[in-house]
Amino acid sequence: MPAELSWQDFSPAWNLNGPRLVLTGTVRHSDGTPARDVVLYYYHTNLEGRYVHVPAQARSMPPNELGQTHGAWRGWVRTGADGKYSIHTLRPAPYPQGDEPAHVHVTVLEPGLSEYWIDDFLFADDPLLTPERRVRLEGRGGDGVVELHELDGVLVGERDIVLGLDVPGHRGRQAADGGTQR
Ligand SMILES: [Fe+2]
Repeated sequence: MPAELSWQDFSPAWNLNGPRLVLTGTVRHSDGTPARDVVLYYYHTNLEGRYVHVPAQARSMPPNELGQTHGAWRGWVRTGADGKYSIHTLRPAPYPQGDEPAHVHVTVLEPGLSEYWIDDFLFADDPLLTPERRVRLEGRGGDGVVELHELDGVLVGERDIVLGLDVPGHRGRQAADGGTQR
């Protein structure tokens, strides 16, 4: 993770040719207040549905039996006082095999807590995102399905993230701050 993070990030894909995508919203505590200093790590497949590894980049996980690993299309944001985040990248394609909808993985790192994953970003217009799949979504961090709308040639999807929502074992704000219930 880079030492300096901003509320906005531009993935390595952003300057390549493809459908430009902005994922944006506000990270909130369960009481609705904006959450600052929260790091979101995201990664996703390329336009062929593959996690592409760049040889110069250190591997953060070993490749699986298909040779897949964390791809180079990834990045980090850190929220400011308003809780806002903005991820600029290209729209990923679904895996070449199978029927998994296209998705963007997200891991949350709150101050003082262990990192945890939340529901992927999924796209409401994805034909692979069937009603049967939708009912199986866990809703970790809130609903990850975004409706895309086009703005100046860019696809924009908005999602507010609720820290710890439906994340088993999440300690919550009070415990993390060491404070008492009010
Ligand atoms: Fe994936």
